[in-house]
Amino acid sequence: MIVLVVRNYEEVSLEAALKVAETIRSKPDAVLGFATGSTPIGCYRELIRMHRMEGLSFSKVSTFNLDEYVGLSPDHPQSYHYYMFQNLFNPVDVKRDNIHIPNGVAEDLEEECRRYEDSIKQAGGIDLQLLGIGRNGHIGFNEPGSPFDSRTRVVKLSEQTRMDNARFFKSLGEVPTHAITMGIATIMEAKRIILLASGEAKAEAVSKAIKGPKTIMVPASALQDHPDCLFIIDKKAASLL
Ligand code: F6R
Repeated sequence: MIVLVVRNYEEVSLEAALKVAETIRSKPDAVLGFATGSTPIGCYRELIRMHRMEGLSFSKVSTFNLDEYVGLSPDHPQSYHYYMFQNLFNPVDVKRDNIHIPNGVAEDLEEECRRYEDSIKQAGGIDLQLLGIGRNGHIGFNEPGSPFDSRTRVVKLSEQTRMDNARFFKSLGEVPTHAITMGIATIMEAKRIILLASGEAKAEAVSKAIKGPKTIMVPASALQDHPDCLFIIDKKAASLL
């Protein structure tokens, strides 16, 4: 694990966008793994700027998102489909056919999970996976207790995660109880992983992920075994290191 500590959220976003852009420039048909949540928004904003001002093209890129809520259709404003189109895909030239996000309203969710794993394999695996981290150390929606050999599956969200995400919904009751997420083993197969974290609220999870014992109770601690994993975090998120 390499840890890059920068001053603030803006620098986290900029550094992350530079790494994504570097990957696309060296491999125009790169397979990129994306995350949602508040943290990557600044990175996506910077990538959009690079597309508009510097000609960064996503036309050959394939994308795979980490997760999606069960029960939210792609046009639901809180779905991760909607988020990705709003925050990155619409303003850039990525091809619709190359975008992959788990379908949270699939009739057969188990089959959807298998199909998702297969499509990652068919694409040749993920070259660069962006991650955020939950306050409880989750990555994707792999909550504490998720086995390190887990693959894409339906999971129950912890109450802390539902409460953390309630800020995007009208009430806690509206936050879905389940999600489809890539598993920890799925994430660990990405050739390169970059985890972003900003703010004091993430300091404990970041410190446990980097310095703590490898344990399924801190899913991000699995990353200690990844051969090419970079944490880009700001000073506040690094305050307990
Ligand atoms: C989102 C995801 C989650 C978030 C995490 C942090 O696709 O997989 O693991 O990265 O919950 O969320 P924020 O960035 O909102 O603090």
